Amino acid sequence: MSETAKLKIGDNSYEFPIIKGSENELAIDIKTLRGETNGVITIDPGYKNTGACKSAITFLNGEKGVLRYRGYSIEDLAEKADFLEVAYLLIFGELPTKEKLVKFHSDIKENAIVDDDVRKILDAFPKIAHPMGILSSLTSALTAFNPSSVNVDSDEEMYRAIVKIMGKLPVLVSWAMRKINGLPLNYGSNSLGYVENVMNMMFSKPNEEYTVNPIVKDALNKLLILHADHEQNCSTSTVRIVGSSHAGLFASLSAGISALWGPLHGGANQAVLEMLESIKEDGGDTKKYMAKAKDKNDPFRLMGFGHRVYKNFDPRAKIIKVAADQVLNDLGIDDPILDVAKSLEQEALNDPYFVDRKLYPNVDFYSGIIYRAMGIPVEMFTVMFALGRLPGWIAQWREMRLGKEPIGRPRQIYTGESLRKFKAIQKR
Ligand code: ACO
Repeated sequence: MSETAKLKIGDNSYEFPIIKGSENELAIDIKTLRGETNGVITIDPGYKNTGACKSAITFLNGEKGVLRYRGYSIEDLAEKADFLEVAYLLIFGELPTKEKLVKFHSDIKENAIVDDDVRKILDAFPKIAHPMGILSSLTSALTAFNPSSVNVDSDEEMYRAIVKIMGKLPVLVSWAMRKINGLPLNYGSNSLGYVENVMNMMFSKPNEEYTVNPIVKDALNKLLILHADHEQNCSTSTVRIVGSSHAGLFASLSAGISALWGPLHGGANQAVLEMLESIKEDGGDTKKYMAKAKDKNDPFRLMGFGHRVYKNFDPRAKIIKVAADQVLNDLGIDDPILDVAKSLEQEALNDPYFVDRKLYPNVDFYSGIIYRAMGIPVEMFTVMFALGRLPGWIAQWREMRLGKEPIGRPRQIYTGESLRKFKAIQKR
């Protein structure tokens, strides 16, 4: 393979270097294209062929179904690691020693108190507010309570901002759920592990002692790990691009949460469950919905199927499918939704429309079933995704700022009117 790419425009030829990633992925480096060609740019709606940055955090190969965080396979991490260890790994690049992990956790706990005035903002939201809207707003509101912007050249300041948000976001997540359930707000307990405390904050009742169910804890730990990073997806790219203007960490994260909310991205887990429920209520005729998904005149899509980068299988979906079976078995739950999901999956895997387009179940196809078994309301599913994705967003924001990346500012090809003369309103 030559080390340059040649481009011919009219009679002129140009050469651009080809750069190689550590897993031998290749990219044409077009940084100088516009300058050299007197204004020619590339156009790539949806960035299907565009690398926005170099990154050392997450590697994925969509054709082979490979996903690794900092070189560790997702299968290994989901099986053996603790979510907080994975968060540390993603953000700082190495698995923590026991001492480092203890310090990380204790610094997070120290920063887990949310200013009491944030409660007043929460109170002002209507009960019907979507918790993703609440989470994004409250994360943004944290900037008002922590106004000094992070000096990214100071390791200490960067670290402090990281432990602050790692401490406060789970509180906001649990408050969003407690508002839905009409429960008084709480802070959980500093004597618990990170994931156990999330559960405590979400589920505990004021008149009962809360005991953590180890099956539910293991499943939640796994789900958070599986969602922790996924390289340059829509919400992560949002976090990086907002941060590239040197907006603060909390403001960038708030924008990422809004991006995640959409049903084509993190919002798919809620959409999947709503879809499965409506199929069940409609008599469970999965074939009818398969036909709708294939009908180009019908806007219906099979939610939880297809992925921008996985064109073979989503390795996270494989792990989650097993976990969903386990959790439902262990908790003794017989959920008819799971049968609808399984039969849809079987039909899609054998249907030429889905096979030809390489549409496989993605991570969100099964995650909602587990969340439901845990007693988490459907509107909270994407919020749980945000909680898992937090360390990935932080890691990507930190990498972008430490790498001194320039402000993100794409160009366009203008397709509107050429210069027109203004017409007075009487003459239009
Ligand atoms: N159901 C039916 N048809 C589909 C689906 C689906 N879920 N997904 C893609 N297709 C079809 C498209 O209609 C298109 O068909 P065509 O070639 O005949 O026009 C073809 O497959 C390619 O689809 P695109 O939308 O171009 O693929 P893209 O990579 O842009 O989109 C996406 C990926 C957004 C995930 C898409 O598959 C989708 O909408 N899936 C459902 C929503 C979902 O589950 N999102 C969660 C993604 S995972 C995550 O964010 C964590």
